[in-house]
Amino acid sequence: MGLSPAWDGSWEANEYKMTVRTLGVIYITVLGLFALAGPGHAQERGYLGPLPCAGECHQEIFDTWKTSKHAKAFQNLAPGAREKEKKEAGLKPATDYTMDKTCMPCHVTGWNDGGYSMEKPDPYLQGVGCESCHGAAGGWNEIHKKKDLANRPRTMKQKGQIEPFKGRTVCVPCHEDDTNPYKFRTPPGKIDWTELKHADTYHILK
Ligand code: HEC
Ligand code: HEC
Ligand code: HEC
Repeated sequence: MGLSPAWDGSWEANEYKMTVRTLGVIYITVLGLFALAGPGHAQERGYLGPLPCAGECHQEIFDTWKTSKHAKAFQNLAPGAREKEKKEAGLKPATDYTMDKTCMPCHVTGWNDGGYSMEKPDPYLQGVGCESCHGAAGGWNEIHKKKDLANRPRTMKQKGQIEPFKGRTVCVPCHEDDTNPYKFRTPPGKIDWTELKHADTYHILK
């Protein structure tokens, strides 16, 4: 999609280079792609990446998220990264896992759901982004700007947004799944994911 020719894998270095104008172009490009994809296609879920959420409204949350391990989860799949931790889980430190489909469900945003894919490896969907926990923002972002509709739970749900702590928390499918090489750290049922002490691992909560 030509989203970011200058991408170097670092949120710190890149986010400020994105102007509001660029965001607009991306937004329209993304919407255009979904329109082209047609009904029934996974692309209509509309993953936008975290920058439009940061934009005018959630800059503070974005600033804390971008330093989190979630934000950097993709980089750790590269050879040489987290060598000790990879050995601990029986993974090979010298192997490049950034193209390994078995790792993608939990290390990118919107895998198998119209988000990150091998065909469209959007750097802004690398790592565990806002939309991994809150749902794809494509249908939500526009209406969300209309103040009277903002944050109405029913509207949010209709537009594809998830309340992360409702029902089974969104944390479980990644953290307690059998395919997580580190599942031994988070045995099923032992962790209350809704405890606020976890919050500093993804973003500050007001
Ligand atoms: C899409 C998959 C996914 C979801 C959803 C997810 N996580 Fe994670 N989480 C990860 C991955 C991958 C890492 C490891 C990142 C790394 O270190 O490379 C991680 C790391 C963590 C860590 C370790 C961070 C640290 O600083 O040591 C905690 C704690 C955590 N997540 C809590 C949560 C909580 C709480 C939720 C739900 C609100 C959640 N996660 C949702 C995939 C996910
Ligand atoms: C079902 C989800 C899931 C899948 C699939 C998955 N991971 Fe992860 N991964 C996680 C979670 C959750 C964590 C955070 C572990 C923790 O600290 O509790 C994590 C953490 C990591 C870490 C950082 C560990 C650390 O302590 O620094 C590496 C490296 C990693 N995964 C590599 C991989 C590789 C390579 C694959 C594919 C072969 C893979 N993962 C597949 C969920 C997953
Ligand atoms: C690992 C999962 C996870 C990620 C990633 C994540 N969030 Fe959250 N977020 C949560 C949880 C859990 C809550 C608390 C929900 C509740 O209390 O019901 C929350 C609450 C919020 C709230 C409402 C509460 C508040 O503090 O204002 C906003 C707004 C929000 N998140 C925006 C974002 C944005 C923007 C990003 C990306 C920059 C993001 N989130 C990334 C899990 C996540």
